[in-house]
Amino acid sequence: MAYQTLLFEIRDRIAFVTINRPDKLNALNDQVMADLGQVAERIAGEDTIQGAIVTGAGPKAFVAGADIGDLAKQGPFDGKARAMRGQAVLRRLETCGKPVIAAVNGFALGGGCELAMACHIRIASENAKFGQPEVKLGIAPGYGGTQRLPRLVGKGVALQLILTGEMIDAQEAYRIGLVNKVVPAAELLAASEQLIRGILTMGPLAVRLALEAVDQGLEMTLDEGLLLEANHFGLLAATQDMKEGLTAFLEKRSAKFQGR
Ligand code: COA
Repeated sequence: MAYQTLLFEIRDRIAFVTINRPDKLNALNDQVMADLGQVAERIAGEDTIQGAIVTGAGPKAFVAGADIGDLAKQGPFDGKARAMRGQAVLRRLETCGKPVIAAVNGFALGGGCELAMACHIRIASENAKFGQPEVKLGIAPGYGGTQRLPRLVGKGVALQLILTGEMIDAQEAYRIGLVNKVVPAAELLAASEQLIRGILTMGPLAVRLALEAVDQGLEMTLDEGLLLEANHFGLLAATQDMKEGLTAFLEKRSAKFQGR
């Protein structure tokens, strides 16, 4: 299936998703968000896809934010509706049950930073730049920035970025914990693929439940989160994958997980 604003390819269980509006620095207009919503659904639902890498087309930008032309036309009600649609798309990606890596190849501003934060792991190229510059436009983040940024980097640093709109480089993003790793631009996709292929050698049910426990646990009390973790631990004990993983270790061989 072809998308108007995305390049989409499945290669050996990985979906490669490229936001493809390089002349507009891959800004997220309504069509991109609709395409991204469909892609998130596919990643969640198709067994041939076990993980995804999201990046931006061109050398300059991952995504330079929501499309400012669209925002300029909105009133309060469609503005709220746009924010809720965008939030739902990013949340679907975040809760797709499979690892999603953002390969941040340039500007990740506003909605671009928010898209990267909805992915599970962020790898940045050395030229990447991050920021939530919405306040400069008289708006505030609308695709989850006020919620995910403090969860990732802490309240103080998040507020500094959100209230000043300042742009930070990849090394600073790494220092504050916004990105997991910084690599030379030429190595970005290979490094992202290597990371996700490593995750795909793990038990897929274990990966799925670990993602779910971290996602849901952050919203729970410690005791509730620990109970969720214990329930998952017990559930995994009923799987063939757990037997295979433990047996393979004892037999000093690599495990062959089936996802059941
Ligand atoms: N929405 C719509 N169009 C955008 C955009 C956005 N968020 N960001 C960039 N573009 C467009 C520019 O309008 C320009 O289009 P044009 O060639 O038709 O005029 C094109 O992308 C290239 O951008 P340009 O500003 O010329 O590149 P630059 O290298 O001088 O600056 C940025 C790069 C990222 C600093 C600058 O584009 C910028 O500040 N973008 C907006 C970032 C932002 O505020 N995002 C949050 C939105 S809520």
